Amino acid sequence: MQYGFFDDERREYVINNPRTPWPWINYLGNEDFFGLISNTAGGYAFYKDAKFRRLTRYRYNNVPTDSGGRYFYIREGETIWNPGWKPCKTELESYECRHGMGYTTLTGVHNGVKAELLFFVPLQTHGEVHKLTLTNQGSGVKRLQIFSFLEWALWNAATDMENFQRNFSTGEVEVEGSVIYHKTEYRERRNHYAFYSVNQPIDGFDTDRESFFGLYNGFDEPQAVMEGKPRNSVAHGWSPIASHCLEIELEPGESRELIFLFGYAENDPQEKWDNGGALNKRKAQEMIARFDSVEKVDNAFAVLRTYWDQLLGNFRVKTGEEKLDRMVNIWNQYQCMITFCFSRSASYFESGIGRGMGFRDSNQDLLGFVHQIPERARERIIDIASTQFPDGSCYHQYQPLTKKGNNEIGGGFNDDPLWLILGTTAYVKETGDFAILDQSVPFDNESGTEVPLFDHLTVSFDHVINHLGPHGLPLIGRADWNDCLNLNCFSDDPNESFQTTENRSEGSQAESLMIAGLFVVSGRDYVELCNRLGKNEEAARALHHVNRMVETVKQHGWDGEWFLRAYDYNGHKIGSKENIEGQIFIESNGWCSMAGIGQEEGMTEKALDAVKERLDCEHGIVLNNPPYTRYYIEYGEISSYPPGYKENAGIFCHNNPWVIIGETVLGRGDRAWEYFRKICPSYSEAISDLHKVEPYVYAQMIAGKDAFRPGEAKNSWLTGTAAWNFYTISQYILGIRTTYDGLIIDPCIPPEWEHFHVTRKFRDSTYHITVRNPEKKMKGVKAITLNGKLLSDNMIPIQPPGSECKVEVTL
Ligand code: BGC
Ligand code: NOJ
Repeated sequence: MQYGFFDDERREYVINNPRTPWPWINYLGNEDFFGLISNTAGGYAFYKDAKFRRLTRYRYNNVPTDSGGRYFYIREGETIWNPGWKPCKTELESYECRHGMGYTTLTGVHNGVKAELLFFVPLQTHGEVHKLTLTNQGSGVKRLQIFSFLEWALWNAATDMENFQRNFSTGEVEVEGSVIYHKTEYRERRNHYAFYSVNQPIDGFDTDRESFFGLYNGFDEPQAVMEGKPRNSVAHGWSPIASHCLEIELEPGESRELIFLFGYAENDPQEKWDNGGALNKRKAQEMIARFDSVEKVDNAFAVLRTYWDQLLGNFRVKTGEEKLDRMVNIWNQYQCMITFCFSRSASYFESGIGRGMGFRDSNQDLLGFVHQIPERARERIIDIASTQFPDGSCYHQYQPLTKKGNNEIGGGFNDDPLWLILGTTAYVKETGDFAILDQSVPFDNESGTEVPLFDHLTVSFDHVINHLGPHGLPLIGRADWNDCLNLNCFSDDPNESFQTTENRSEGSQAESLMIAGLFVVSGRDYVELCNRLGKNEEAARALHHVNRMVETVKQHGWDGEWFLRAYDYNGHKIGSKENIEGQIFIESNGWCSMAGIGQEEGMTEKALDAVKERLDCEHGIVLNNPPYTRYYIEYGEISSYPPGYKENAGIFCHNNPWVIIGETVLGRGDRAWEYFRKICPSYSEAISDLHKVEPYVYAQMIAGKDAFRPGEAKNSWLTGTAAWNFYTISQYILGIRTTYDGLIIDPCIPPEWEHFHVTRKFRDSTYHITVRNPEKKMKGVKAITLNGKLLSDNMIPIQPPGSECKVEVTL
């Protein structure tokens, strides 16, 4: 069953049934001010950091689900309704939600009144516009009351949900004209405030939650709205909110537009107060003035749309596969930008409290957005590298507000350093900005410790070779990419987190074949970079280690038909036919195949065939098989999940692309494509009931074949899946690969594709690439011309800036 449809022309997903199987959300903002918004107006906003600057309150895992948001109540006679259906759930004559690029619209019609809401964060603005358009579609005069509603969070989202003995006494607001200010703790240590305004005089307001709702009522029965009487309440402690009340009269056919602005401002400590000793509201007033007319708002919205045109214009494909094209051209690239902004911090599955920015996560995310916003990718690389330690190890996460490593989470994940090599080289290949490698970057944000960024790559590389285990394979540390394969943790205490409990790496023999494969791939990248920089000695040194790792994997990492996953603390095999459960894993087979380890000996092919036979299912490739059916103290969190879910044999969409790239290394375009399609969300739109989460973005996990409900997805939006799938489709299936010196064209496609077309902006030029496949091949470029001239190989050298080039490729 479907709950909506794609409108590719407008780049929107249109939801026409509000009872989606799970809230289907969108994101607003992409610089400092961010919002999450569901298809029924649920969600919240924050400034920069979802934990430390939460602006509005949201209750996760509530009953009913998705309670709290940006609500507009419309009262006509005794009826109250919401344009987004919730929270009152009054039946609407029509309902439509359009999630677009950085904006959402909600349109509801009730009793001849159409209410249309547009939510967006204008560029360079620390606030959200909520534009409400009311139209009388009936034949009589309409008298309506409109009540807006936001609930303030007391800034720190964690303590906001805990420390009620304090919280209930601190809340403070101010109301001036049509603007409601939230200024809790402004008197003492905070220099920031939030506000909610509307661009016309109001007929009442509320700022105290209980006065507005009544103590025993839910969001669906606000007393003030039901009685049509705002209380003009001023909150003193308890729970401050912001609600405006407006009386509106509409003639038949008449439309009215109201502009609400929800903003955040920071004052300099010297300018906290105005002359009379009140909150200095100048910044709010300035922002309000920027959006106080429909014309100004419409202009800002047009600017936002143009901005997205440009962001999405750098890579466009036309394959004729509608479901693929819309993912590549619109939604997959959009999701990459969202993961750039949020890493793993705030979604409907991540509370915004638990996680900062991940070291490995953010580096991988770079692969997906570097072609869209190279300048911001550059800044991100420097931020990430600044949290590294001099020995190459790293904090696993850092907080976006402070950009400092997160001590509570700590480090010790031995794959972490290598992702910096992948992220940085991807950036330099995209931009040609070799200068970034000379930029001074500190260790652990300690000034005085700066070394060139290039040296951070060297210590990353060396961290692996300085931490080899008994077989000469990389020691796993706390864990590798699979945070749940905890081989040095031995936790028997349910009160400790697998992620932060003691890491007993001392004396451990636990080695990872996933890191081994990753080391070979990223190590070759490092070697190539050294060569390119003329550091030939360093290149030779590194190459020696890479080649040795390849041999070690062949010798100690091969199980006969596939690559082992790891050795445990005591040196026993994991991911081997000798095991009873967990005989084969996706990660090591993916990475070692991407690295082409043992390709001549047939290992890569065998490994990928084993993946097909044992891990593949209707909905994608599961992580391991057979799943663990009991808790193994020596494996940790992985065996804590029920079979088929999450890291225990779930379809981890993030690592399916590793196998897909492996298949393209072998030239099996049909299989690569089959795998790609299975997890591509637009192909699951028709089974939305089962799939449950949004059909326009990737989810971290789809329940695997051993699960109770195979095919049910969870953890949508914030996942490295977005980047890996974009990287895979663009660089390996469509095969347009960035290099330091140009673009390599090396598609690997299903034989039935007759042709496809890509427009790719690269280093200030535009390449119009047409690939034809008359002989129904899967891989191998037969001829390639650039502006009509035959090239000697499939590498297009960098063209002069501003060029429009025509590339014709025949397979
Ligand atoms: C999840 C992992 C995640 C880790 C760290 C675990 O509970 O299963 O997917 O990487 O927590 O947040
Ligand atoms: C989610 C985490 O964010 C990521 O870092 C990790 O690699 C995967 N889960 C797999 O455990």
